[in-house]
Amino acid sequence: MTSAQATCLADALAAGYGILAQGGSALIAVERTIGLLEQSGLFNAGRGANRQLDGVQRMDAAIMEGTQLKAGAVASIEGIAHPITAARLVMEETDHVLLVGPFAGRFAQHFKLDRHRSTGAPRRLSYDRILGKQKRSTRERHGTVGAVALDRSGTVAAGASTGGIDSMLPGRVGDTPLIGCGVYADNQSGAVSMTGAGEGIIRLVIAKSICDRLAMGKSPAVAARQALRMLVSRIRGSAGALILSPDGRFAIRHVTPHMAAGWWSGTGQPTVRGEFP
Ligand code: GLY
Repeated sequence: MTSAQATCLADALAAGYGILAQGGSALIAVERTIGLLEQSGLFNAGRGANRQLDGVQRMDAAIMEGTQLKAGAVASIEGIAHPITAARLVMEETDHVLLVGPFAGRFAQHFKLDRHRSTGAPRRLSYDRILGKQKRSTRERHGTVGAVALDRSGTVAAGASTGGIDSMLPGRVGDTPLIGCGVYADNQSGAVSMTGAGEGIIRLVIAKSICDRLAMGKSPAVAARQALRMLVSRIRGSAGALILSPDGRFAIRHVTPHMAAGWWSGTGQPTVRGEFP
């Protein structure tokens, strides 16, 4: 983690907590925290989003609240500065959960969301070359941003926003906008936001799996450890999780080498670290 990323994370935590301290909702605290990370260009989300193999940034985001289990998400959205806000608007302004591609973009434009002009031109490659590049790559680019929060009313919320992984085919969608995979929130269990290689997270529906363990009485740390162990042992997956229970216990766990993350509960300074063993 760079010092710029650490500062940005601490500022985002302070901004999110500031909303909660003034009696604001967990949902808005999560949106604001993620929005600052998207805006920074320092993470793989929003301005800093990764490019797909045709050179285009296509982003995914989701948000969920734990009282009525309302959720919204966008996938493969282009040219929008804050996909997390588009996700909240899907949740609040439609009867749907997930909008995709150009239709998600058109929806965001209708609500006059800030646009983000991508630098760099699309690459003109044959599909054979694109497929070849995807097969040659073994790297995974992480840096998905996420947040979980608990407000004074006892509502939990979770959100995440991403530019995906390295060397993805155009149109690839990861775990982030899939409710129960990258994000889940339920006041009867807890809030979870995932980062990591989305294909494995999807196959084991990890966010909901962690929430189910919380509902069975496991602590956030144990619930996360069990789900992440299963991810590694069954399919050699790679991920990290932010977990918050409705009684305020939380954990940050990862089976990736690093995970830049932090927390703040209002006293002292926000804690930010690059690893959570
Ligand atoms: N976890 C982000 C992605 O796989 O797209």
